[in-house]
Amino acid sequence: MRNGLPLGSTVELKIDDLAFGGRGIARLDGLVVFVDGAIPGQRVRAVVQKRKRQYAEAAATEVLERSPFEVEPVCPHFGSCGGCKLQNMAYEKQVEYKVQQIRDLLKRIGGLESPPVEEPLLSPEPFFYRNKMEFSFSDRGSSLPSEPSPSLFLGLHRRGSFDEVVDLQTCYLQAPETQAVLQIVREFARTSGLPAYSNRTHEGFWRFLVLRRGVRTGQWMVNLVTTEPRVELLSALVPQLLQALPGLHSVVNNINTGKGGVAFGEREELVWGKTTIEERLGPFVFEISANSFFQTNTLQAERLYQRVLEFADLTGREKVFDLYCGTGSISLFVSRQAREVIGIELVEDAVADAWRNAERNGVGNCRFVAGDVSVLLRDPQGFIREHGKPDVLILDPPRDGVHPRALIRLPSLGAKRIVYVSCNPATQARDLAHLAGSYRVERVCPVDMFPHTAHIESVALLVTR
Ligand SMILES: C[S@@+](CC[C@H](N)C(=O)[O-])C[C@H]1O[C@@H](n2cnc3c(N)ncnc32)[C@H](O)[C@@H]1O
Repeated sequence: MRNGLPLGSTVELKIDDLAFGGRGIARLDGLVVFVDGAIPGQRVRAVVQKRKRQYAEAAATEVLERSPFEVEPVCPHFGSCGGCKLQNMAYEKQVEYKVQQIRDLLKRIGGLESPPVEEPLLSPEPFFYRNKMEFSFSDRGSSLPSEPSPSLFLGLHRRGSFDEVVDLQTCYLQAPETQAVLQIVREFARTSGLPAYSNRTHEGFWRFLVLRRGVRTGQWMVNLVTTEPRVELLSALVPQLLQALPGLHSVVNNINTGKGGVAFGEREELVWGKTTIEERLGPFVFEISANSFFQTNTLQAERLYQRVLEFADLTGREKVFDLYCGTGSISLFVSRQAREVIGIELVEDAVADAWRNAERNGVGNCRFVAGDVSVLLRDPQGFIREHGKPDVLILDPPRDGVHPRALIRLPSLGAKRIVYVSCNPATQARDLAHLAGSYRVERVCPVDMFPHTAHIESVALLVTR
């Protein structure tokens, strides 16, 4: 078969499933083909890009037959922009396929015969749901056909490209005001005479435009990430920004001289207003600075945390450990139903934010410890001597999951229940398999935080055997 699929050849494929990660799956004479840019139900023409013994990879170039689940994408940039992968698929169907992926992973990797996967929580808003967007500047990109071709682009990366940016005229992931801000900042950058940063030469001035919005408070932050500070220049933008964003609270200039493509500042200059904005989750108010982590879908984060609370089943007498606690948002959320919460987090700034957030909300039963979970758990008994024995563990690790070193020691903490929140169901399934000797998986709830993307969050409840 491999000879029948030479690289660069064109094939016709019927897509019959959606792979974890968002590519379509087709089968050709027994070979699995992962097809970029295709959704289940479509018949497509595709170009073969990679060939292995077990599978091949291809990119769709033309839809020959529409899928019954296909809908008209609302965004004119869909297809070229890397921001959304599934916008041409009915929203409920997107979630259905993503939930099926969770089930499959729990069977295949998690070793569960019939995973107890419950009804998913759909995002209350399928569009405009993000409270934070990171747009990139680039000297390479593509505009809509009606636009002249400039030398500075501002938007999201073109699908599959590390340096080309789609010059976005609109974006349906964040509130509609974003559109006006994109135009204002792009025009300003173009007339500034300063070049966009290039990921190839690592030269240039303009790097990222990060927009943050307190969905519950209406406050906006505009963060311009550049390679050197230019507060005076950026101040000239403020009157226009104020017109577009009446809720503007903060304009900051973060300086990033590193080569990595991250919208993070080594240091920050205040351009206008305050250095933080506020957002509410349930009854709690959080102060968010440009570089701190915060859940990006506010309304859905509240529902996710509500589910965590339900799974934790607290009576007010429990000691809870919130491992990988970030700025302490889950800790605060469960604090009223617990005796005490101890949050553990690697990033010291986030720990400082967590303390501030607790104080600001009058929460007195949370403590936060800066440290690496894997290192702290090297000596679980020492940890228990210092912090006590947890009744309930909450885990919300990054995409890689819980480090194997920490995972093997988790059971010796002796918690009766574990609530495992994951943004990567594949590593969650792996970790649940490792904990299977001590804990039984009782419930799993998929939570769609990121409509139109391939991502899905999963909350699992584990109880001692
Ligand atoms: C998915 S976030 C969870 C944040 C928080 N629970 C929330 O909902 O806002 C994962 C967090 O784990 C932290 N982290 C990553 N590796 C860690 C480690 N080895 N030990 C402790 N924290 C870690 C990250 O800095 C990040 O804040």
